[in-house]
Amino acid sequence: MPLTKMSPLLLKAKNEGYAVGSFSVANMEMVLGVIRALEETQSPAIIQIAEVRLKQSPLELIGPLMVAAAKNAKVPVAVHFDHGKTEEKIRQALDIGFTSVMFDGSHLPFEENCAFTSKINRIAKEYGADCEGEIGCVGGSEDGSENIAINCTSPSQAREFALATEVDALAVAIGNAHGNYKQAPKLRFDILDQTAALVDVPLVLHGGTGILPDDFRKCISLGIHKINIATATFDSVEASVKKTYEKGEIKGYYDLQAAEVQGAYENALRHIEIFGCAGKA
Ligand code: 13P
Repeated sequence: MPLTKMSPLLLKAKNEGYAVGSFSVANMEMVLGVIRALEETQSPAIIQIAEVRLKQSPLELIGPLMVAAAKNAKVPVAVHFDHGKTEEKIRQALDIGFTSVMFDGSHLPFEENCAFTSKINRIAKEYGADCEGEIGCVGGSEDGSENIAINCTSPSQAREFALATEVDALAVAIGNAHGNYKQAPKLRFDILDQTAALVDVPLVLHGGTGILPDDFRKCISLGIHKINIATATFDSVEASVKKTYEKGEIKGYYDLQAAEVQGAYENALRHIEIFGCAGKA
């Protein structure tokens, strides 16, 4: 199955009423674990890395690995550049072969967010790739370095933004935040419902870690078709390694590596089941 674009995966998800997981990865073990879960469950998915994570996982190294893994997968896998901040890195991802990019202009005034996102979308289209934008502001930050306040999406602005930028996917802010929540968030389903009624493009839920299964299902029923999961993967990998050490099962490096793969695999499997995308490859 070839490396695929994000838009056909999201369109099918919208038509059939499920969500596609967009799993953040930081190394080969995470890529292997996620893809094993996808192949076992016959699920389509997206693997992604955010610009803030490139200090730990340089794009010129992790990017080709992600693209090669998607090309080798037995199920459709899109490769996405998450929370792009700079045109330079977004272009680098597209040059490497990423099939979609996000420009995160959520901190900018509306007009500037529209203008920059439209520009990035034009660049993405030159590569035959898709583009995601964000309207409103998801809380926290992708690497935990900032505690950005949540600014819930205005449904009418979301419509204006989607029409002006012609993005292929639109991230909304409905009380969700990146990183671990202190307690499960109270999502604004009313805002999601109103936004979905006004916007045709598939909606994206960031900050998936810690959202309750029933809340995920409700979001999907109201128009979310891409769900981003990052912290849960990192936590699951760490927990798997710790547990395997505690059980005395790590005798050398390759046991450690297998425990990492297992952690990413288990986390992806859990989310695939909730998102309803098993068997949709
Ligand atoms: P979490 O780290 O909360 O899962 O958020 C992931 C995300 O939205 C990446 O864009």
